[in-house]
Amino acid sequence: MGFLTRIGVAIDSELLTRFDNFIAKRGYTNRSEAFRDLIRDRLVTATIEDPRAAVVGTVTLIYDHQSRLLPEKLMNLQHAHHEVIVCTTHAHLDHDSCLEVIVLKGHSKRVQKLADALIGIKGVQHGRLVMSSPKTCLPKTA
Ligand code: NI
Repeated sequence: MGFLTRIGVAIDSELLTRFDNFIAKRGYTNRSEAFRDLIRDRLVTATIEDPRAAVVGTVTLIYDHQSRLLPEKLMNLQHAHHEVIVCTTHAHLDHDSCLEVIVLKGHSKRVQKLADALIGIKGVQHGRLVMSSPKTCLPKTA
């Protein structure tokens, strides 16, 4: 972590009021941490747009395990890309529904492509990929 630098930001009062309401709903106790989080989030977004960026990600899937061939297709796809998959967690939500969270690590393009393939398997009811870039979140001190 670097040393702290104070900056001044000129901002429209209505925009600032909206921002204060926004951060209050999310439990921030001061603007500085909220600004830092917004900056980190934008930097991560910019980083993961690079197809060769090193990223980590989670794919969350909801599906009915009785859907024909779906569990086998999910398993086969994960084995075919085992070098990108860190681990998988499965929860049986009820008699029919399953929640699966798959942790991925690799180049942005590869992680995105595998996530799209997993989410696109017929029978997956809902799926979402969240990617992050740990090195972008925690820049080294200059
Ligand atoms: Ni299950």
